[in-house]
Amino acid sequence: MTDPRVTLNAETQLYGIFGNPVRHSLSPLIHNALFKKLGMNAVYLAFPIEKESLGLAFEAIRSLGIRGVNITIPFKEMAINLVDEIPEDADRCVGAINTVVNRNGRLYGFNTDVPGFLAALKNELQFNPAAKNILVLGAGGAARAAVFALAHAGAESVWIYNRTPGRAAGLQSYLSSFFSETEIESLESLDTVRRERIDLVVNATSCGMKTEDPIAFDLELLREKAFVYDLIYAPGQTRLLKMAESLGWPRANGLGMLAAQAAISFQHWTGQSKGVHETMLEVLKTCRL
Ligand code: ATR
Repeated sequence: MTDPRVTLNAETQLYGIFGNPVRHSLSPLIHNALFKKLGMNAVYLAFPIEKESLGLAFEAIRSLGIRGVNITIPFKEMAINLVDEIPEDADRCVGAINTVVNRNGRLYGFNTDVPGFLAALKNELQFNPAAKNILVLGAGGAARAAVFALAHAGAESVWIYNRTPGRAAGLQSYLSSFFSETEIESLESLDTVRRERIDLVVNATSCGMKTEDPIAFDLELLREKAFVYDLIYAPGQTRLLKMAESLGWPRANGLGMLAAQAAISFQHWTGQSKGVHETMLEVLKTCRL
């Protein structure tokens, strides 16, 4: 008999990720590494899903007894309506979930991107958003989680700048209603950025994922040195991060957030937390990105 920790059999529990595209995802790698390390009879697979089949895929979680799934681009918002319950108030407010837990056929939704992002800022940059001025680039699902997290953590101001200004305005108007202590603004021009002190720049756009992409933001526009966090992890160093490096500014890519949000999902599913984040980070750091 082979190592019982890696044998798949009739008892194997199934986990996975729903998205499109999803074949590039590193989630199967890190979750399967954890199952193996902990000797759990479980496997985690990637499922590319067509939009019109998302409802059927959620039915399959129940009918096949899939224990848990992650939800990624472009389904995080749609998934809200396909679970039975979203236990956390904050997750309902974000308006997007990335984790589903199946408890006896009842599906519970969670957003682990928000705490994962804050954990990454703390672990990778030792950055605390409280009372800080922050520029967030982008207005999609990733930006939504980032702005929510920053306001939730007590940022003084969060300025949202997006290629399509109307989307930034929409995000601003939605999230402002939840936070009275944080000034959330959408920027049509970069004048504010030139004028005000910015403590942290967050790239929550997908600009930088392709080698031919332009730089997501010209850091030289800023008056002073700032922290730079790029949610992109592949490539490991975007043009934005290269520029931050050349300026000697503190910076980090999205690997820390990927590991942190995955560790929280894993805890929701299995109750296990000890050493989980560290193992995931170790596995990710060995990947060629
Ligand atoms: P996600 O859920 O990952 O945020 P998304 O909802 O598709 O994905 O959002 C992608 C974000 O990256 C958007 O803010 C998009 O800007 P638009 O709203 O103008 O489309 C931004 N983005 C993508 N490519 C970009 C580029 N080349 N330059 C600037 N912004 C870009």
